Amino acid sequence: MGQRNLWVGLGIAVVWVGITAAATNYDEENVGTYTLPNPLAKTDGGIVTSAKEWMEQRRPEILQLFERHVYGRAPDRPQEMRFKIRNTDAKALEGLATRKEITVLFTGKEDGPGMDLLVYIPNEKTKPVPAFLGMNFYGNQTISGDPGITISKRWARASKEMGIENDRATESSRGKHASRWPVEMILKRGYAVVTVYYGDLEPDHNEGWKDGIRGYYLRQQGKAEFAPDDWGAIAAWAWGLSRAMDYLATDSDIDAKHVAVHGHSRLGKTALWAGAIDDRFSIVISNDSGEGGAAIARRNFGETVADLNRAFPHWFCGAYKQYSADPAKLPIDAHELIALAAPRFVYVASATEDRWADPKGEFLAAKNAEPVFALFGKEGLHADSMPEADRPVGKSIGYHLRTGKHDITAYDWEQYLNFADRAFGR
Ligand code: GCU
Repeated sequence: MGQRNLWVGLGIAVVWVGITAAATNYDEENVGTYTLPNPLAKTDGGIVTSAKEWMEQRRPEILQLFERHVYGRAPDRPQEMRFKIRNTDAKALEGLATRKEITVLFTGKEDGPGMDLLVYIPNEKTKPVPAFLGMNFYGNQTISGDPGITISKRWARASKEMGIENDRATESSRGKHASRWPVEMILKRGYAVVTVYYGDLEPDHNEGWKDGIRGYYLRQQGKAEFAPDDWGAIAAWAWGLSRAMDYLATDSDIDAKHVAVHGHSRLGKTALWAGAIDDRFSIVISNDSGEGGAAIARRNFGETVADLNRAFPHWFCGAYKQYSADPAKLPIDAHELIALAAPRFVYVASATEDRWADPKGEFLAAKNAEPVFALFGKEGLHADSMPEADRPVGKSIGYHLRTGKHDITAYDWEQYLNFADRAFGR
């Protein structure tokens, strides 16, 4: 392209962005005013006053609102599902752990849809161990340099830095996300590490559903397109986490009553939703999940619902699109997503430089979930206003604001491990 054409092209691009995207607000003064829906206000107008009423009446209402308007409805556990232990190595990571690779066959068939689980069990243990389960972005082999991990053969987003060429992982992708997965540290604290590549459920792009579990079900149902409240990709990934939990419940090395589900960013949104629909997760951890996750949608700061629907239309259900223009019309907000974890444990983490995810909006969502935890006599954040950076707070609801950028670091993990130790009475 000639120099002039380049400038004309750039000019058009700038005008296009200007027309389609409102400028991102990063100014607290311009957040505007909003009223959060009261999590305790039932649709019949009454106010919830007991834990029983919450569990039996209000919680199902909120869950359904999130299904219908945000993430979409997912199918139940498939009857024919089967677990295939592919290999086990009792001397992985220099003897620290036993590595297992399991294929979950959703239809029970080798050539049907499935996903590959990677499980590390600490060898130093006297009884079944609690576990941290979370999805990864580029294949199981990226979480550790362990040469025994099978390299994912599925589509992955091209990334030189991550060792993904022509949309496939190469040998060099091994351990590329090890900084986000301090596997040894977690194992030494007595927890199992369990992960699955989110692309096993659905490749993360607009057409990805065709090659994923959503497309499979759609074809099975003989339908050509999704209904407005059918599941989006986040619900499909969360469904995968539940299927991983199904496996963990069968593994005698795992204490399935003590499994924490976690995720970073879009996978933090996924973890929150997984924890909402599946109460077998006893801790739910959102790391920098932001808009569509832990951040209050009604707060105009950083990413907006419109931004999400524009850039990632496949993540949410069709009905979510109608809230781009005015998120205040949403019948629920992020504090209620967090409240769905009650009376279990939930942790929300933000980072100072991650303004796109709106750290304050994430804190406020955690804060405004407190009345629901109080119904159970559970103590929330122990903080009236946002704590200073690197000062973790909270009892049943944990929160910290880490110094630094959008990422998940050893610091974040130390807090999650400490929180889990307390939650599980270890
Ligand atoms: C984008 C997106 C966020 C998302 C993030 C991620 O920044 O706008 O909503 O959380 O990607 O997943 O890394």
